Amino acid sequence: MAAALELRDVGVRFGSFDAVDGVSLSVHAGEVVGLIGPNGAGKTVTFNVVTGLQPATRGTVLLDGRDVTGAAAHVRTAMGLARTFQVVQLFAGMSVLENLMVAAHRFTSAGVVVDALRLPGRRRALDQARERASAVLAFLELSHLADVEASSLPVGQARLVELARALCLKPKVLLLDEPASGLDPAETADFVALLAEVRSVLGCAMLLVEHDMGVVMPLCDHLVVMNFGKVLASGTPSEVRDDPAVRTAYLGAVPA
Ligand SMILES: Nc1ncnc2c1ncn2[C@@H]1O[C@H](COP(=O)(O)OP(=O)(O)O)[C@@H](O)[C@H]1O
Ligand SMILES: [Mg+2]
Repeated sequence: MAAALELRDVGVRFGSFDAVDGVSLSVHAGEVVGLIGPNGAGKTVTFNVVTGLQPATRGTVLLDGRDVTGAAAHVRTAMGLARTFQVVQLFAGMSVLENLMVAAHRFTSAGVVVDALRLPGRRRALDQARERASAVLAFLELSHLADVEASSLPVGQARLVELARALCLKPKVLLLDEPASGLDPAETADFVALLAEVRSVLGCAMLLVEHDMGVVMPLCDHLVVMNFGKVLASGTPSEVRDDPAVRTAYLGAVPA
């Protein structure tokens, strides 16, 4: 079976600087792969190549075996790719439920055209979006936040809502960029447990960009370590943890 997400020899060059230089990796359905590495290693640029925000200078991006290297971000979203941001980006001036409905609406029987033309299917579509958004909030035990203004949430809750919004897209591939950044240790532990549950219930493929080893070690089936734009090591969390080159790159910051 084709991987849900595959990168083949991806490179991104800025001027004469190779921010990403020959990265290959694959993530299968139900699998969590961690993309780790020190600051400046090229993780976010790689992530942006996957979402379509950053064009690759070379290499191939495949979703479920289909080449999407040149495809726009919204095309990839429609193919089942959902993401969260390193810095939380919720729509201000909207409630939590409305934030989720914007995402869920894409999957209703109507969609944008019916909406714009105010056709009869519009109300039913909104009802469906509200239903899906409410179900996701209930699954994440966030129903009590439905009517709260999204921009007023503390970062810990905002991260959860951002995850909820991504789940409204019914993702086949879920991309998370440093989901634990800004969270305290207790919130981080809760978030890790929640991601494990999402993975087991939804069975989607997850690619997690993270520099906090405490997040990736318990959660990931496979780790890809980047340094200076290249893949430095790749393997199970324990293989990677014991790799001397990885230890050097992290200057001893890898927990034993
Ligand atoms: N748009 C850009 N133009 C030039 N250099 C960039 C750009 N985006 C990122 N870089 C550089 O590419 C390298 C990798 O960045 P990034 O992927 O953000 O690292 P990280 O692994 O910390 O997420 C860094 O040296 C960064 O300064
Ligand atoms: Mg980054």
